Amino acid sequence: MDPQKIVVTAALPYANGSIHIGHLLEYIQGDIFARFLKLIGKDALYICASDMHGTPIQVNAKKAGIDPEEFVEMYWQEHQKDIASFLVHFDNFYKTHSPENKELAELFFSTLKQKGLISLKEIEQMYDEEAKQFLPDRFVKGKCPKCKAEDQYGDVCESCGAAYNTSDLINPYSVLTKSKPVLKKSNHYFFKLSKMSRQLQRWIKSHPLLQPEMVNFVQQWLDEGLQDWCISRDAPYFGFEIPNSKEEAGAPKYFYVWLDAPIGYISSTKNYCDANGKSWDDYWKKGDVYHVLGKDITYFHFLFWPAMLMAMDIPIPRLTVHGFITVNGQKMSKSRGTFFTAQEFLEKFDPEALRFYYASHLDRKVIDVDLNFTEFQAVVNNVLMGNLGNFCYRTLTFAQKNYGEITKTAAEPQLVSELEKLFVEIKQNYQDMDFKTAVKNIMKAADIGNAYFQKAEPWKKKENEAEKEEARAAVGFCVNIARNLAIICSPILPEFSRKIFSSLNQTGRSETSFRWVDLSFHWKGRIEEVQKLVEKIEELPQRENFSLSIKAGQIVEVKNHPNADSLYLMQVDFGSQKKQVVAGLKKYFTSEQLQGKKALFLMNLKPVKIRGEKSEAMTLVADDGQILALLEVDAPLGSQVSVDGLAVSEAEIGFDEFQKVNLVVEKGRVVYKSKVLKAAGKEIAVTSVKDGAKIG
Ligand code: 2FM
Ligand code: ZN
Repeated sequence: MDPQKIVVTAALPYANGSIHIGHLLEYIQGDIFARFLKLIGKDALYICASDMHGTPIQVNAKKAGIDPEEFVEMYWQEHQKDIASFLVHFDNFYKTHSPENKELAELFFSTLKQKGLISLKEIEQMYDEEAKQFLPDRFVKGKCPKCKAEDQYGDVCESCGAAYNTSDLINPYSVLTKSKPVLKKSNHYFFKLSKMSRQLQRWIKSHPLLQPEMVNFVQQWLDEGLQDWCISRDAPYFGFEIPNSKEEAGAPKYFYVWLDAPIGYISSTKNYCDANGKSWDDYWKKGDVYHVLGKDITYFHFLFWPAMLMAMDIPIPRLTVHGFITVNGQKMSKSRGTFFTAQEFLEKFDPEALRFYYASHLDRKVIDVDLNFTEFQAVVNNVLMGNLGNFCYRTLTFAQKNYGEITKTAAEPQLVSELEKLFVEIKQNYQDMDFKTAVKNIMKAADIGNAYFQKAEPWKKKENEAEKEEARAAVGFCVNIARNLAIICSPILPEFSRKIFSSLNQTGRSETSFRWVDLSFHWKGRIEEVQKLVEKIEELPQRENFSLSIKAGQIVEVKNHPNADSLYLMQVDFGSQKKQVVAGLKKYFTSEQLQGKKALFLMNLKPVKIRGEKSEAMTLVADDGQILALLEVDAPLGSQVSVDGLAVSEAEIGFDEFQKVNLVVEKGRVVYKSKVLKAAGKEIAVTSVKDGAKIG
């Protein structure tokens, strides 16, 4: 065993889209940990790669009119740039479409085969007769067989996290043609996961460092019994062809992307080690490996991957799972205006602001982290800048302007012992990946520094030599605290720390060459002018809101209003809830014409009583002066209508406010400021009225 050798990984991003602030939570979490390990002198590698295989990539490359190889290469370049701009330092950011990964995937496969863990079975698979191709998991949707959530992909349920075989979906349909897929027979390779149940059970039960929430989650899956896992896919597929599959299975088969993706953790390490005269198994077999990942890919990392590693006699890594990112309390989504790519974020804010904010929320619990911009501004301006930044900047600037050099430091044994105690705690916090507490403790240390500087009042002590000396020593002590803080917060704020080190005239040393053992209260030396350490967030970018919450509902009952001749009293089903709606539609529609219709309703209008009956939503219609039409939709009940780029507000509004929002029909579609309204991703079309019709 070699406790010095450590690999930290982050989940490999698909080379199929840009890096966004959700990815960054994980890369920053791993980066802080890896930087900390290096700081305490470990031989740590932070490893990642682009995940380059699978049908979505192949389909998108085709859409873009380029070869998949070229397509993934483009994202590989972009990812590295985006990641580096957030000061995330991967020692290697490699690719799964690489010779090392191919070789290792084949080695894993042949070893599993030798150990009797692979079977070849004829199975029935979803086939789209219109598109004339087998449908990969992501191209079939339907009801989750476990939790019954609607509209789930064929491989894993986004609602309950279960992974299953596509043929288990309830009421499946092809994403390509919307047709109902048929089952067609084909041979496929399976990994006999069920044979590994006992070993997995033993690991889950005995591993002290797994997060308890995850253990419970995985235990449930184990209790339900594990299914064998299909690890091959039919052509067309962008991936590695399985050796001999043509002969054995009757047609060429490819490794399923999730077989070779985690192997990418090893092949990226190998690629790095080969280039640096090291050996990957020194890390993977004798050292420690830490995976950092999101809760959506738990199944793969807690069942499939450990089972594969067990069969390969490679120790199972330590797993740290984080929750999702929400933005201002909402799920990240383009249509809600709560989605930011790395590049969009950088246009507005400093990367260290995000690193600091994330660090102050991450504590190794599997909870979602909310990027609330008001809180973000407060944390950056009041805590990072107001406390830590202010102390370091003020101290160094004062020292540089007044002395230019630190020649002595005050002896403050009481404070030194308090600070040293904090430093020990912070080290443990980092070790436990409890960055939230680390940040709190760093702030306590900065508080001590700030209070000391304030009390020492060095700007006043100019009367005599003794006073001047006292002031000089007090400032010297503060400079030492600032220097220590720079070392300690360097895993979170590498650039902030670098600026301090460079002011301490130690430019020859890179920020990564500092070590925890360099902490000291006896540093002396020249001080250069210090650069601004933190950018204040003056104002938050305003995203325009769409103030109407409009949802799809189905009219399940139509009655006459008991007290008004022109009104109907309807019951409308919104999936998870039913609402009563009073509608003045009698002049235009018979109750039979309304019964069963799926249409759009305004949900956030202040509820009112109309002639003694409550109305909890408003039926939306398009009116061109001659014809009045319902806004009929084909979307799951309860779907929220979105407008690209705008955040939908669900806050209650009055009728006046509703009338100010100008919704009209343009080219047969409902638009707001020329932006098309969509439900479940589809444009809302009304063709029976003339263009220019108003929605009311
Ligand atoms: O979910 C994802 O984004 C995958 N590309 C993660 C792969 S992680 C690992 F197993 F390679
Ligand atoms: Zn489910």
